[in-house]
Amino acid sequence: MLPTFVRATPDGTEKGDYLALDLGGTNFRVLHVRVVEEQQKVLKMDSQICAIPQEIMLGPGEQLFDHIAACLSEFLDSQNLKGKTLPLGFTFSFPCEQKDIDKSILIRWTKGFNCSGVEGEDVVRLLREALSPSQDYDIGSVAMVNDTVGTMMSCGYRDQSCEIGMIIGTGTNACYMEEIKNVKRVEGEDGRMCINTEWGGFGDDGSLRDVQTEFDLTVDRNSLNPGVHTFEKMISGMYLGEVVRLVLVKLTEDKLLFDGQVSDALLTPDRFETRFISEIEEEDGGLQNAQDILTALGVSCGPVDSHLVRLVCDTVSSRSARLCAAALATVANRIRLNRRLDHLKTTVGVDGTVYKKHPNFSEELQATVRLLAPGCDITFLVSEDGSGKGAAMVTAVAQRLALQSRLLEDSDGEVDDEEEEEEEEEEED
Ligand code: GLC
Repeated sequence: MLPTFVRATPDGTEKGDYLALDLGGTNFRVLHVRVVEEQQKVLKMDSQICAIPQEIMLGPGEQLFDHIAACLSEFLDSQNLKGKTLPLGFTFSFPCEQKDIDKSILIRWTKGFNCSGVEGEDVVRLLREALSPSQDYDIGSVAMVNDTVGTMMSCGYRDQSCEIGMIIGTGTNACYMEEIKNVKRVEGEDGRMCINTEWGGFGDDGSLRDVQTEFDLTVDRNSLNPGVHTFEKMISGMYLGEVVRLVLVKLTEDKLLFDGQVSDALLTPDRFETRFISEIEEEDGGLQNAQDILTALGVSCGPVDSHLVRLVCDTVSSRSARLCAAALATVANRIRLNRRLDHLKTTVGVDGTVYKKHPNFSEELQATVRLLAPGCDITFLVSEDGSGKGAAMVTAVAQRLALQSRLLEDSDGEVDDEEEEEEEEEEED
């Protein structure tokens, strides 16, 4: 439950040019984004992708930020943007304690990253330090954004009732608009603030122990971060394939699959990729895919085996969709109760490969949410490139709010002056 310092969703009047950085998976992206008010559109002008090799994901933090700086500098060069100071939105999809919109302390790495010297540090400072030696790009204002927030904000430009952002991809997480009076760590009584729930960490206190299986415990034990992000390890793309692989190994050892013969590939962690689950669950051709995939993994997969493998995939992906739905229903109900409504109509901006690519994940999730949150009528809006465009949107909204509050101060000043004059006149009378 981390305050994000995002105090408003878009109202459709935002505009301007922005730079966006996006780090959260195995790639890093730089984008030049234009927000066009007349069309209420966020346009991606251009972008560049830089792979983050595993030695950088696991190496010293300095090396990671130097890599980011080099990629950014190359992009600015190619776009003739050097010398310009565009506002920058940085989507950094890891749990951060935000002190302000431009001060964000990394709590811990997730999703396979483990760079030393970054946990406990301000990510904006590390970025500025990495960029300063070259001196050819001066970053001006920076807004730090979680990918869930970017997703909510980019969908929010299209649909202004979007108040929840959800990701089900490599990792899983959601954010939502909370009443500021309920946000203990931030002063203020009026208005709202977006909260990054980091729901991937649900269960780290043992509260999911009753529903974790032996397979979940093994996935956790063998992960880079044992004991943390428990919920994420039961749901997201980084782990689902591995859960399925462990179940298949167990069924084979119990002589229920593949004539009881495992292969080296099947015994190798992470060899069963999450995308295989989607391929095997496809309505047409899924059984054939199962046979092809398992044969390539070195086991002898007959027709009955294919059905069983598909059942395992379906069980694991359905569980993921339903767990996600339970969390989402809770968040939606929370918003409904905050507003003392019997019925809430709201929109969720969604992104992530698991949600988008799996043949029936979204259907199963939506059906379960309807069951668990009957008082909430939820529209699901799939975000196109939310973490890139959303970072620009957060920056644009922050600028709009700053401008509005300056205008308000100015007009307050005028009113005060007029009032004073009137008072003086009355006294003279
Ligand atoms: C992980 C990160 C979280 C992010 C999510 C989805 O759970 O901790 O910040 O939003 O992955 O990418």
